[in-house]
Amino acid sequence: MGAGSRQEENLSRRAFIRRCAQRLISAIGAGLLAYPILSFVTFRKSRKKTVVFPAKDQSDAVSFKEGVFLIRRKGDTYAFTNKCTHLGCRFNFDPLSRTFRCPCHGSVFDLRGKRLKGPAKRDLEKLPLAEKRNGDIQVAVTL
Ligand code: FES
Repeated sequence: MGAGSRQEENLSRRAFIRRCAQRLISAIGAGLLAYPILSFVTFRKSRKKTVVFPAKDQSDAVSFKEGVFLIRRKGDTYAFTNKCTHLGCRFNFDPLSRTFRCPCHGSVFDLRGKRLKGPAKRDLEKLPLAEKRNGDIQVAVTL
């Protein structure tokens, strides 16, 4: 084996090691970039909270607190978030017509959450709630 041949072998070994190092660095870099993006796209953290309507603050018909409507009507109690089932806009309560009206595309729901009109296809979903001995009502909300 001559000196030229050994030099070629060293060069090709160096080139091979350099190429491997570059690929390794590229793979690590791609992983570092991809991880937060994939985490953001694939992971959706659901949060839960409890909204408490103290007995003294509950009106006869409709109360509102922290994005939750509490309806007490004819001995029945139920609650909804104010998030429209169409595209998620926040709707309001209209005391004159006694309906919930979404300002975005005009969906309307009655006091029981039934869809009356508009592009929304689904009724409002009732939230789980618990009435405490002292009259407070706790509503469980998933955000
Ligand atoms: S988001 Fe409420 S009607 Fe479209």
